[in-house]
Amino acid sequence: MTRGRFITLEGLDGAGKSTHLEWLVTRLRSRGHVVVQTREPGGTLLGEKLRGLLLAEPMHLETEALLMFAARREHLACVIEPALVRGDWVVCDRFTDASFAYQGGGRGLAREKLSLLERWVQGDGGEGGDGLRVQPDLTLLFDVPTGLARQRMVGMDRALDRFEQEQGEFFERVRAEYLRRAKDSCGRFRIIDATGTIDDIQQSLEEIIAIF
Ligand code: TYD
Repeated sequence: MTRGRFITLEGLDGAGKSTHLEWLVTRLRSRGHVVVQTREPGGTLLGEKLRGLLLAEPMHLETEALLMFAARREHLACVIEPALVRGDWVVCDRFTDASFAYQGGGRGLAREKLSLLERWVQGDGGEGGDGLRVQPDLTLLFDVPTGLARQRMVGMDRALDRFEQEQGEFFERVRAEYLRRAKDSCGRFRIIDATGTIDDIQQSLEEIIAIF
């Protein structure tokens, strides 16, 4: 059985990621793939409970990072790994890049600590390669200036969560860290200009998946 493929979607809150995720999953299914659609933090019963805490309760920065990775460990063990082994494709709304961007870039947690958790939770792939056993095959980064992301977010008809309530400079740092990781990623990332129309963005996604 060929191992499935693992696609993650990333971007600032308000980048329009969720709209494109639904479209992408439908498109992949129409191409005949069995697709597991999931999200982080969350994706399992326990993970969704942790999500509730993470999005609402004030907590120490390191507690926040540890809970993100605890939810991720459960998610990998119970959902992502089994699906990939079955040969299914997994499309996940956020993954470890979000921890580097939000807890690292946004909140200032040392990158070394995040790398340590990443290796623990995603497995040590041994010598050679990038050293990780589980890593997305493709990461779509929906990039927008923070001002536009903010405008879209405040236009939404619901209360803002603990991350969405952060101020402009926080999101500047999150965006910068996403872009830095994309640059250093050896081709895993595709940066999508999410200021375009929905049609333009779908066209870009179509081109990316056609050759993936
Ligand atoms: P998201 O699912 O994009 O929110 P929504 O569906 O409400 O638009 O993400 C929830 C929040 O969690 C988002 O603000 C980013 C944050 N987050 C982190 O800070 N670190 C992480 O590792 C992950 C996965 C998410």
